[in-house]
Amino acid sequence: MSSQGSKNELDNLDLTLRPQRWEDYVGQEKVKKNIRIIIEAAKQRNEPPEHLLFYGNPGLGKTTLAHLVSKEIGTEIRITSGPSLEKAGDLAAILTNLNEGSILFCDEIHRLNKTLEEYLYPAMEEFKLNLILGRGPMARTTELKIPRFTLIGSTTRLSLVSAPLRSRFGVIFGLNFYNLSDIERILQRSSRILNIEADDDALKIIAKSSRFTPRTANHLLKRVRDFAQVKGNGRITKEITKQAFDSLEIDNIGLLAEDRRILKTIINKFNGGPVGLKTLAAATAEEEDTILDIYEPYLMRLGFIIRTPRGRVATDLARRHLGLKAQKRKLLF
Ligand SMILES: Nc1ncnc2c1ncn2[C@@H]1O[C@H](COP(=O)(O)OP(=O)(O)OP(=O)(O)O)[C@@H](O)[C@H]1O
Ligand SMILES: [Mg+2]
Repeated sequence: MSSQGSKNELDNLDLTLRPQRWEDYVGQEKVKKNIRIIIEAAKQRNEPPEHLLFYGNPGLGKTTLAHLVSKEIGTEIRITSGPSLEKAGDLAAILTNLNEGSILFCDEIHRLNKTLEEYLYPAMEEFKLNLILGRGPMARTTELKIPRFTLIGSTTRLSLVSAPLRSRFGVIFGLNFYNLSDIERILQRSSRILNIEADDDALKIIAKSSRFTPRTANHLLKRVRDFAQVKGNGRITKEITKQAFDSLEIDNIGLLAEDRRILKTIINKFNGGPVGLKTLAAATAEEEDTILDIYEPYLMRLGFIIRTPRGRVATDLARRHLGLKAQKRKLLF
């Protein structure tokens, strides 16, 4: 998505601004509290903490949380991801090279293939791997012991994580959208780190357009800084922020041109819905996954879209925001 920046740029920004201490990890208080208790208890028992599964929309802080857990325990963290593991050998290489107590972070764990999932179960439960060596009648299995480790899985789609895999995690934590004051705090911290001078009322506007998501907030801050540099004197003011958002076609609640197009498609082409995901994706030329991961969660959070068994429906709130008339009520009897 152009207005969200390129993947590389996001990675760099994520790294610079990623909180390294719990104090800097704003919000998600319940999750933080519970994770710290789990870690403390495991430390007292002198064993690695249980396997943890984090789920939530992109950019809400799952990877950051995993790094904080590893810091708190004082062990290394190895990073892998569901789609990057193809063969049993890939997984075996990673698992057998772990150190006692290591954390293995598996991003996009819902995309791990089913065969590898089966290999992972005994690894998670009993810290062993059953490998099949050779093929056909000559094939035999060997059991490999692996170091005791903690798996931290991360997913944007909890519903796609199979029940057997889910049940092998000790605790499952869901990250929610942040509230505005948390996002403002994140923006203040980011401004300090990036040496940006910004007015409070400007940061408030950016927070309001952040989709309640730290990564998006940081990304917008950077975009507005570019504007302040080129069109102003470097300071982020309310006026500069508004100019930047106009130019990027981001509205006062953070909707992008793409969000508005999705809403208008449902309203104009499908009479407000219900419309199925496939049809909507085809009509807007968006990927189904992008609609599910990026656009829809925020539109639902705003109450602009509701999901029904027959598909997505746009609400009158959405119509009002777009300056359209409310829909005439259909008579039900
Ligand atoms: N609680 C937080 N406090 C401060 N900054 C945060 C917080 N959560 C996330 N961030 C910022 O947002 C960036 C993105 O977070 P992170 O990479 O952890 O998200 P994610 O949930 O792993 O996303 P994805 O699903 O795309 O992998 C971080 O680098 C950090 O700058
Ligand atoms: Mg991540």
